[in-house]
Amino acid sequence: MQLSLGSVFLSLWEKAPLETLLLLSAFLLILAQYLQRMRHLNYPPGPPGLPVLGNFLQVDFKNPQISMQKLAKKYGNIFCTHGGNLTFMMITGLPLIKEVLINQDQVFIDRPQFPIHLYVFKTLGLVMSSGQEWRQQRRFALMTLRNFGLGKKTLEDRIREEARYLTEAIREEKGQPFDPHFQINNAVSNIICSITFGHRFDYHDSQFRQLLKSLDDVMVLEARWECQLFNMFPSIMKFLPGPHQKYFREWRKLGSFVKGVIKQHKEDLNPEETRDFIDAYLKELSKDNIHSSFTEENLVVCTLDLFLAGTETTSTTLRWALLYMAVYPEFQGKIQAEIDRVIGQSRQPTMADKENMPYTNAAIHEVQRMGNILPFNVPRISAFDTTVAGYHVPKGTILMTNLTALHRDPDEWATPETFNPEHFLENGQFKKREAFLPFSTGKRVCLGEQLARAELFLFFTSLLQKFTFQAPPNTQLSLDIRYGLTLSPVSYQICALPRVM
Ligand code: HEM
Ligand SMILES: *[C@@H]1O[C@H](CO)[C@@H](O)[C@H](O)[C@H]1NC(C)=O
Repeated sequence: MQLSLGSVFLSLWEKAPLETLLLLSAFLLILAQYLQRMRHLNYPPGPPGLPVLGNFLQVDFKNPQISMQKLAKKYGNIFCTHGGNLTFMMITGLPLIKEVLINQDQVFIDRPQFPIHLYVFKTLGLVMSSGQEWRQQRRFALMTLRNFGLGKKTLEDRIREEARYLTEAIREEKGQPFDPHFQINNAVSNIICSITFGHRFDYHDSQFRQLLKSLDDVMVLEARWECQLFNMFPSIMKFLPGPHQKYFREWRKLGSFVKGVIKQHKEDLNPEETRDFIDAYLKELSKDNIHSSFTEENLVVCTLDLFLAGTETTSTTLRWALLYMAVYPEFQGKIQAEIDRVIGQSRQPTMADKENMPYTNAAIHEVQRMGNILPFNVPRISAFDTTVAGYHVPKGTILMTNLTALHRDPDEWATPETFNPEHFLENGQFKKREAFLPFSTGKRVCLGEQLARAELFLFFTSLLQKFTFQAPPNTQLSLDIRYGLTLSPVSYQICALPRVM
């Protein structure tokens, strides 16, 4: 059989010219990409992958940590993987993390646009937006958050009031085993809700509980392999059933709730008074500036962003905190001793107490270090070509920073794998640590860091002032992880024993 490539091509061409043409162009495209990659031999190292699928099949989605671990071992502090037409660069170690997030923060300032987010948010909002739009929205959100009390007494009072509601709700459990997940979620969410929507939601409000459930669902769904496959092949996955469809449904529910709140705000908007973030945004909209990114659609996405980012992260951290307290009663005792000495039982904690409570402050930092809820930070993307550690990094490379490696670095932490508040103490005083970046760093650092820190301190001390947390009788608490957009504890039951009768 003497069948040359040319005669195969010709016979294909006769039968189906259009299909053949498409096939040929796809082939040339892949070849061109490959050649382009060869031209710069100085790309960061990485595992060879299949065409189109890249390294997708090499990732074990039930335990992404493990498969990536193998790559990290093999390739070191900087390596790339591929999937579809996306290139991911993984950066490990404090010096290189500082290089990309601080020294090169003009390069790695944007966010990648994953199809799954584009489908829900377009390129809008605070978290996933880029360029000038992002700059405008971030500046406005920061300013508005500040006007509504970020760093002021008013916001502190709101958190303290919410801590009282939370303490009451937990007292109603009467020391019996319970899952604190939704109470904590609700309490934390109420803070950002009062800033954005102008009010809090009662813990028994079933509609709000449903929304928190949707929020929790999207966090878990986004980590599913079907959703990652959607990112690679959106035009196919769009038509297929699966968890990604539920992901979109839950977002739509959240979206229509926010739209309803905005509609209400428009109806009773008072020019004399700005009640909350939505009011402030509506007033900005009425300014009628054609160059601005302020649109009603963007208001919806910004509000969703604040709601999501302001709820899930802090609430997950607090759930880790209670779990660590129950697992390590000796540390819990030391914190309570400090609370009793500095605050006592007759008044609620305030932010001013933090300065006099190095042990408690250190313990909260240690919860964040061990909880490590965003192990790869939030991805960025290079806005133009650059060089990192001597390697050529083209525009459009997705940057992930390995915060796990930082938070568990044996050169930085005395006992990296075990909970130990001493990591943040020196001669009994609180000690800041460079290798601690749960909120990330640089120009795109977490927008809610200050708010989150206030919430963590006030909720945590208020709870430990009133309760001792313990495993239910005859059970052992597990520190196992539930994988999702954040690493959270698997759901647990705990007992909150009142400290004073
Ligand atoms: C313990 C709690 C929290 C943790 C660990 C956390 C962590 C992070 C991290 C790692 C980022 C990515 C930063 C980067 O790309 O370099 C981020 C971004 C963000 N966070 Fe937080 N966060 C927390 C709480 C909050 C709260 C309470 C809010 C509410 C205002 C919030 C709002 C945001 C927003 C809007 C962004 C996107 C900022 C941007 O892209 O410009 N976060 N957060
Ligand atoms: C991140 O760092 C941790 C801890 O060193 C390591 O186990 C993991 O494999 C790293 N992951 C990647 C993707 O580099």
